[in-house]
Amino acid sequence: MSRRKVTVVGAGNVGATTAQRIVERGIADVVFVDVVDGIPQGKALDILQSAPIIGFDTKIIGTTRYEATKGSDIAVITAGLARKPGMSREDLLSANAKIVKNITSELIKYSPDAIIIVVTNPVDLMTFLCAEVSGFQKNRVFGMGGVLDTARFRTFIAMELNVPIKDINAVVLGGHGDAMVPLPRLSTVSGRPLTEVLNIDKIEAIVKRTRDGGAEIVSLLKTGSAYYAPSAAVMEMVEAVLLDNKKILPCSACLNGEYGIKGLYVGAPVQLGKNGVEKVIEITLTKEERIAFDKSVGMVRDGVEQVMSLIGKK
Ligand code: 2OP
Repeated sequence: MSRRKVTVVGAGNVGATTAQRIVERGIADVVFVDVVDGIPQGKALDILQSAPIIGFDTKIIGTTRYEATKGSDIAVITAGLARKPGMSREDLLSANAKIVKNITSELIKYSPDAIIIVVTNPVDLMTFLCAEVSGFQKNRVFGMGGVLDTARFRTFIAMELNVPIKDINAVVLGGHGDAMVPLPRLSTVSGRPLTEVLNIDKIEAIVKRTRDGGAEIVSLLKTGSAYYAPSAAVMEMVEAVLLDNKKILPCSACLNGEYGIKGLYVGAPVQLGKNGVEKVIEITLTKEERIAFDKSVGMVRDGVEQVMSLIGKK
């Protein structure tokens, strides 16, 4: 079998580190696309020249032309504006909707059987938009949000307890937005419920820092948003699909009745494999968790009408 092929659209920080992580991991060759001529070519060549040192044989090319993406197994959409300090992810909706719509229309011309992973924010609505524009089966279009949020949640817990991160499991549900729902009740440290390991004040502080995780980095960087952890999250999702490893990861997936929701993209634990989202995992929520989840879902739902009008479907 020839080596798998992943297209990464957007040669900004997220796209570049995503491309780098995929080729370094050796899981697929990468076609790196951007509208600005020279940037994808230069960054791809630079990554390629690290191969003798890092020790990978996967290939990467940079281009502005979608013909080179033909036959991609997976396409990752990272292109779009990033937040500035004080902005919410939702503030990017109208600017990024046009970008994601155009990219999706190009990608599907050359890779009609691809799986599409959306990163561009606001990611739940951009994933919904990509699914609408592509017309792909819903299992083949999903978004990166929860893997990043869960990684942040786990990191903050590890920092607080000074324990190995591998001993920490955490769950974050809902939209990848300020109302996301970290679930301390289902998070564990070496198998012990987090609620038995940390007091409520500490837990609430960590939950808040997780919700604000993206904004904290935006306020520090001032000219862009996070990319090391987001790209690592994308790489884990790409690997789960290409290795068909049936990993359960929190992704922005189209719910079709699960959690009582139909036709909306929000973050939920899903089983990823060669067919993309192979199963949506339903967690029984407490009343309080359900209220928080519904609030987060409501924020996503509020943007659907705007997305539909932006793509001319309303
Ligand atoms: C974040 O949370 C960019 O949404 C991404 O950092």
